[in-house]
Amino acid sequence: MPKDLAIVGLGAVGANLARRLVASGHSVQLGARRPADLAALIAELGHAARAASPDLACRNAELVFLAVPAHAAVEAVRAAAPPAGAILVDCNNPLLFVDGPIWKPPAEGSTAAQLQAAFPALRVVKAFNHFGAELHADPMLRGGPADAFVAGDDAAARQRVLGLAAAMGFVPRDAGPLRNAAVLENLAVLWIQLALHGGLGREFSFRCEQRPAGEAR
Ligand SMILES: NC(=O)c1ccc[n+]([C@@H]2O[C@H](COP(=O)([O-])OP(=O)(O)OC[C@H]3O[C@@H](n4cnc5c(N)ncnc54)[C@H](OP(=O)(O)O)[C@@H]3O)[C@@H](O)[C@H]2O)c1
Repeated sequence: MPKDLAIVGLGAVGANLARRLVASGHSVQLGARRPADLAALIAELGHAARAASPDLACRNAELVFLAVPAHAAVEAVRAAAPPAGAILVDCNNPLLFVDGPIWKPPAEGSTAAQLQAAFPALRVVKAFNHFGAELHADPMLRGGPADAFVAGDDAAARQRVLGLAAAMGFVPRDAGPLRNAAVLENLAVLWIQLALHGGLGREFSFRCEQRPAGEAR
């Protein structure tokens, strides 16, 4: 039986991830503490989406997107209990807001590292955390699609998420091992600073641009 894509946390990020996944031809299991609250989203997404409690949504998951407040991340995964070997995509940022965003990581060094330490049987990948939720729904910007930076220690899991990001219309960028999750969480700090305090607004993202080989300066 093919395994599922699941999303735990159906706020701004989780709901827009669901919209993008369905728009790109995937089916999704939506895990929420009150699945009945997702009736409007299910009506919008049609047969490709189903709502359930987090543990039921993740029961047969190959890959789980986690989009909850960072302080609730460990508790949410414990309740969802994805099967051993599943990929856990950590979309979360451990932030405080005092005149702008401040990175406040847990003792392990990042939310992703905290999750990997708490759930060694899961393969944690950091991704989809470094741009606003509008981009989760639609990655297309004026100059092309947004980059999706993906960090994780399990090479196969990282490749799976890079492939999924490409299928969703992002430009996938391999950001290396899970230690770089701290970098991606700080990229989110910079995104929020520029969006909310730097005059860019929410409809932008970071993109890698290369000079064409051999082009004169
Ligand atoms: N908003 C953005 O633009 C953005 C962009 C990139 C990354 N992020 C990160 O993504 C994460 C989610 O952000 P968001 O803006 O989508 O937040 P949000 O709109 O506040 O939604 C959070 C969701 O998490 C659920 N939740 C909370 N605790 C839970 C638990 N213990 N178990 C299961 N579900 C739980 C909430 O459901 P209930 O109704 O059950 O409380 C809610 O649906 C955050 O870590 C944030 O830093 C946000």
